[in-house]
Amino acid sequence: MASKYTNSERLDKYLSTQLNISRSDAKEFIKKRLVTVNGEVGKLYDMKIDPETDRIAAEGKEIVYRKHIYIMMNKPQGVVCSTRDGQSKTVLELVPPELRRDGLFPAGRLDKDTEGFVFITDDGVLAHNILSPKRHVSKVYHVRFEEEASESYIPAFEKGLELDGGDVCKPAQIEILEDKHEALVTISEGMYHQIKRMAEAVGNKVTYLKRIRIGGVDLDESLALGECREMLHKEIQNIYTSFME
Ligand code: URA
Repeated sequence: MASKYTNSERLDKYLSTQLNISRSDAKEFIKKRLVTVNGEVGKLYDMKIDPETDRIAAEGKEIVYRKHIYIMMNKPQGVVCSTRDGQSKTVLELVPPELRRDGLFPAGRLDKDTEGFVFITDDGVLAHNILSPKRHVSKVYHVRFEEEASESYIPAFEKGLELDGGDVCKPAQIEILEDKHEALVTISEGMYHQIKRMAEAVGNKVTYLKRIRIGGVDLDESLALGECREMLHKEIQNIYTSFME
C-alpha cells in the first residue's frame, strides 16, 4: 500500500535503527505500548512514520532522529580498519553499543600499526566524497622518523616524491618539529602505506605514525586510544573544508 509519506519508514525498523536494538526488541516495545507517535500510542509494528517530521518517543523519552551517524575514533595500534577480520580486532568492534548500527564502516584506512583519527560512518555518499581523489581532502600525520629529518625534505615533498614501484605523489607538506626526528606531514591522497613509502623515498624510515587531522577537523585530544565519540554537525561540515590544491 502506498504511504501518505514520501519519506516513510516502518515504526519497528525506525526504533531498531535509532535505538540500536533488534527488530524483535523493537516489536516488544510497541507491544508493551511503550512507544508513542506524535503523542499517541503506536500500536502497529508496520505503522508508517516520517522520521523527519513525526515525534517518536520510547518510554516517554523523545528520540532525536539521526539519519546517519558520524564517529571520530582514536585508533590504537594492533586494530585493523576493515569491517571484518578473522584474526585482529577491527575498529568497528571498538565502537560502543550506543553508537553502533548496521552499515557502519571506516571511511579510509590506517595501517594496523598506525594510530589516530579514523572516521566511521554509515553515510556512503559522504564517505565516497571524502575518499574521492577529486576532492583532495587533506590528512595530517604526526610522524617519527628513525633518522633526523633534513630540511631538504621540504622541497622534495613539495615537488611530489616518486615512491618505490614508480607511483608519484601529489605535492605534500612537511613541517619538521623541534625534535628533528619528528614532523607533521600533510597529504591529499591515500596511497598504500603512503607516508612510510615517502619516508623510504628520502632514505628514512617511519618508526611511529599517527593521523591527527582529516580535512578541517582535528582529532579530539581528549579521546584516549581506542575511544570514540559522535562528531558534531560543524565538524562534519568542516571535514570538507581543508583541501590541498
Ligand atoms: N601512510 C602510511 O604509511 N600508513 C598509514 O596508516 C597511513 C598513511
